[in-house]
Amino acid sequence: MTNNSTTLSLLLLLLSMAALLILNPPTTVIAEKHVPVEAESKPTTKKPEPFNAMNEFCNQKANKRDREFCNRVLKSDPRSASAKDNVGLLLISVDLAIGKTNKTREYYIYSWAKLIHHKKPSNSEALISALKDCVHAYEWGIGELKIIPAELKDDPPTASYDALMAHDALQTCDDSLSKNKISNYPVLIRHRSSARYVQLCVDISMTVG
Ligand SMILES: *[C@@H]1O[C@H](CO)[C@@H](O)[C@H](O)[C@H]1NC(C)=O
Repeated sequence: MTNNSTTLSLLLLLLSMAALLILNPPTTVIAEKHVPVEAESKPTTKKPEPFNAMNEFCNQKANKRDREFCNRVLKSDPRSASAKDNVGLLLISVDLAIGKTNKTREYYIYSWAKLIHHKKPSNSEALISALKDCVHAYEWGIGELKIIPAELKDDPPTASYDALMAHDALQTCDDSLSKNKISNYPVLIRHRSSARYVQLCVDISMTVG
């Protein structure tokens, strides 16, 4: 290609671009480029940093342990890097809490079945009773967590109500563990950890809607 024909092609290209602009109203051009409305009105807005929403939410926590827990748990899901806002964080925390509580529920079922199978002496009656209560508590809690994503779309305040219900559900396990004076460490630690995951959902849900 000679220099002249390059210049000519460039000129033709520019001319056709100008013609396109005249034929298409500017709104069409904007719509085609998918420029968000906010970005238009606030040209200074920068692209959010990774983990921006997570850091903003977690770093508000006054207690250092809560801050660390919040960051560590949310970071365990790769979607947290690009979560835009607390609605995004809530969906992530709900998935994590469902995974956690489901694991605990399965551990309790397994322990319960093992105790019954081995027909342990009478001192395991209290543990069997607590495990039974806790399995029911966790089933109820998981059910509440599972409806949050759909509700978040239709009615955000209801989502925080259900997060609280999930918290209350796990509280009934807590009550049974106390009432039955359970000191079995694996049983207790799994419940405490699961309850913290659900508490994180509650905390995030309170900032939404
Ligand atoms: C709980 O875990 C089991 C086994 O891993 C799985 O089949 C089930 O779908 C899980 N339930 C929820 C609500 O995630």
